[in-house]
Amino acid sequence: MSNVLRSRRTVRAFKPLPLGRQLVEDILEDAATAPSGANIQPWRVYVVSGAVKDELGAALLAASRAGTVPAPAHFPDPLPDVFRGRLQDFGARYYASLGIDRNDAAARARQSERNLSFFGAPVGLLFSIDRRLKPHSWIDLGLFAQNVMIAAKARGIDTCPQVSFAPFHEVIASHLQMAPEEVTAFGMSMGYGDPDAKVNQTAMPREQVRDFARVVGFPE
Ligand SMILES: Cc1cc2nc3c(=O)[nH]c(=O)nc-3n(C[C@H](O)[C@H](O)[C@H](O)COP(=O)(O)O)c2cc1C
Repeated sequence: MSNVLRSRRTVRAFKPLPLGRQLVEDILEDAATAPSGANIQPWRVYVVSGAVKDELGAALLAASRAGTVPAPAHFPDPLPDVFRGRLQDFGARYYASLGIDRNDAAARARQSERNLSFFGAPVGLLFSIDRRLKPHSWIDLGLFAQNVMIAAKARGIDTCPQVSFAPFHEVIASHLQMAPEEVTAFGMSMGYGDPDAKVNQTAMPREQVRDFARVVGFPE
């Protein structure tokens, strides 16, 4: 299990290999074993492939280029220093892996747009939740999504979780005929990662346990 967890990485370039419907449904069935507060299981997921995925991607790209979608505000402004430092470190590693100059806004925008076509993955997932629920239930959705990624990785399949879809809720909801109470929380690309792609070769660092955990009361 530890090996599967440690081998999962965000993958942003995929081999042109299809993923079967049964395989995806098996992953989702595993993922649905996630715990949820009072077992309310608030997750909803839309799985898109083939022409449906391509059409959705085209509609998202058109909306993005038309500038009708609100600018993403995934983080507070100002972002506390401790997080800003990590975000900047992420950006430096990510754009370096793509050979993109961080000051080249056009190149960065082109790369961001690739989110909307699921980075070329054969399968895309859109995760939604009932907007009437509180942040407490978004924890459940996150646990479910992590289970999806780990259940996929256990089968040799790679993923990219993507909050980039969230600002496009209106377009996504109309394409996928979501119920009015649903809101798109994030999306995910899924497929067989291309190990030769430079963008897939950068490991993102983690803080040490001693830096984020305070462990007390154990015998010395
Ligand atoms: C909720 C969430 C949203 C994310 N959104 C995006 C995204 O929109 N686009 C993207 O390329 N990566 C996205 N990521 C991937 C993160 O950048 C990545 O998980 C992080 O840099 C750590 O790298 P690793 O997953 O390879 O360990 C997201 C990750 C999470 C958990």
